[in-house]
Amino acid sequence: MKGLILSGGKGTRLYPITYTRAKQLVPVANKPVLFRVIESIRDAGVSEIGIVVGNTAREIKEAVGNGSRWGVQIVYIPQEAPLGLAHAVKISHDFLGNDKFVMFLGDNVIQGGISSLIQDFERHSYNAQIVLKKVSEPQHYGVAELDDHKRIRRLVEKPRKPQSDLALVGIYMFDQNIFKAVNAIKPSWRGELEITDAIQWLVENDYDVHPYVHEGWWIDTGKPIDMLEANNRVLLETKPHVAGYIDRSSDVDALVIVEEGAEIINSVVRGPTIIGRDSRLVNAYVGPFTSIYHNCVLENIEIEHSIVMEQCTLANIPNRIEDSLIGRNVEIRYSPIKPRAYKLTVGDNSKLGLL
Ligand code: DAU
Repeated sequence: MKGLILSGGKGTRLYPITYTRAKQLVPVANKPVLFRVIESIRDAGVSEIGIVVGNTAREIKEAVGNGSRWGVQIVYIPQEAPLGLAHAVKISHDFLGNDKFVMFLGDNVIQGGISSLIQDFERHSYNAQIVLKKVSEPQHYGVAELDDHKRIRRLVEKPRKPQSDLALVGIYMFDQNIFKAVNAIKPSWRGELEITDAIQWLVENDYDVHPYVHEGWWIDTGKPIDMLEANNRVLLETKPHVAGYIDRSSDVDALVIVEEGAEIINSVVRGPTIIGRDSRLVNAYVGPFTSIYHNCVLENIEIEHSIVMEQCTLANIPNRIEDSLIGRNVEIRYSPIKPRAYKLTVGDNSKLGLL
């Protein structure tokens, strides 16, 4: 069994964060989503992994390397443009050969890992196994319609009028018959070779495609709100520990992770929350569901339900920051210089909610 992770694409729904960073490297509870995907595959016993990369290839290779950190071998498969998930499978044929494989979208986060799914697939002779999850807005996903015997009747990519509330999760298991399917299908209305159409082709041609309905949580971290939701979920499941320094006048509850080299001075921190390596809090309040990545400085501020990426400085801000996704090297501070006004240097497609 091999692993295939899809980490190309543009990430337009996460602009402006993804102008300068691959969306799969945005951290959730201080660990990039892509690292979590690699760990899930490794934990399921799969050690040969191919990562499909696009124009953020260099950054992804720099962050991930050859996989030795996780005890796996990683190779990179360049995709000239984001021409679709089935296109990514097509160009990975040489790497995958005739082995069965698990394909995992590099921006998906799922509860409970994938070990039991992989065991299930290896035990049976299914040609493909897909993972489904009940969602409230199925029109944003691939959608599966099942018959009365829980067999797949039809799969449709982002239908305008979904006939079911079962979305396709970004985790798929295939045998080599998928290559017949990806070679047979045509690009969709959005110009992509859709994996959903390829699986539909398998169904229509009497291959055995097994649907597995996932009961735990699952998040496709496409939009900022999804990123925050994934952060909430993962923080709730991460074991708290303190490796940094907390001074006596601080109040840090039992659900907080304080990473090595972090310092908390005269501050209040309520978990679930993570304070990253070498970050410093002074006279700050950090509320539940917040991840502060490494080398940040937070002074005289209040923040809650947010993700702050590395090397940020947030200082002397009179109002509490909430529901925010703050990119790398960002500086936000109160400025006493007159005239009293917001003074902003903000990238394209940023979103600010001002008081
Ligand atoms: O997350 C689940 C959904 O993922 C499924 O329900 C849909 O059926 C499936 O088509 C897919 O939809 P998205 O619109 O969310 O896919 P997205 O374009 O975000 O791409 C998913 C991942 O694959 C992302 O990490 C980027 C990568 N990718 C995408 C394309 C189109 C590639 O590596 N190459 C590509 O050509």
